[in-house]
Amino acid sequence: MFTAKDFKTLYAQTITRPGSEKLLQWLESTDFFTAPASTRFHSSCEGGLVHHSLSVYNRLNMLLDTVPGAPQLSPESMAICALLHDVCKANFYSVEMRNRKNEQGRWEKYPFYIVDEKFVYGHGDKSVFLIERFMRLTVEEAVAIRFHMGPYDDSTRSAYANAMEKYPLVFYLHSADMMASHWDEAEPDAE
Ligand SMILES: [Fe+2]
Ligand SMILES: [Fe+2]
Repeated sequence: MFTAKDFKTLYAQTITRPGSEKLLQWLESTDFFTAPASTRFHSSCEGGLVHHSLSVYNRLNMLLDTVPGAPQLSPESMAICALLHDVCKANFYSVEMRNRKNEQGRWEKYPFYIVDEKFVYGHGDKSVFLIERFMRLTVEEAVAIRFHMGPYDDSTRSAYANAMEKYPLVFYLHSADMMASHWDEAEPDAE
């Protein structure tokens, strides 16, 4: 599993744009480095969000490297898109205690992640907003992050094809996100 240290090392090596340090400081003031990536579908564990962000980075790197005609991206741009696409999930989950029967048939309490949104603004659009408070994005990066859910988000479904045609990176970031969450991090018992 990738760690917060892996994230910070890669971030420091690749993202040096003005405001990037302030953005990292803000992330450190949130639960970004301990948050899960989902409630139960993929990387639903402490540190899952950081692990997911790095899994997406590896997939995006692989796709841009191997698919003929893939967009040529600077290392900084690639790291920004992958590592920061889900910053909207900082301060987004909390833990609830639930009851379940253990192997001996006794009820026990166990922690369960729930969505507890504190700043209702959307998903990819929220990530763009939060990043832009500290650091400028190129239009290509902003569109790719905004549409990274592809057709799986009501707010991006109708315009996804158009965005993907104008900015092929939209397709690659969405695909990297799907590969990471569905193949690399899938949880066997998630429905
Ligand atoms: Fe996402
Ligand atoms: Fe994601």
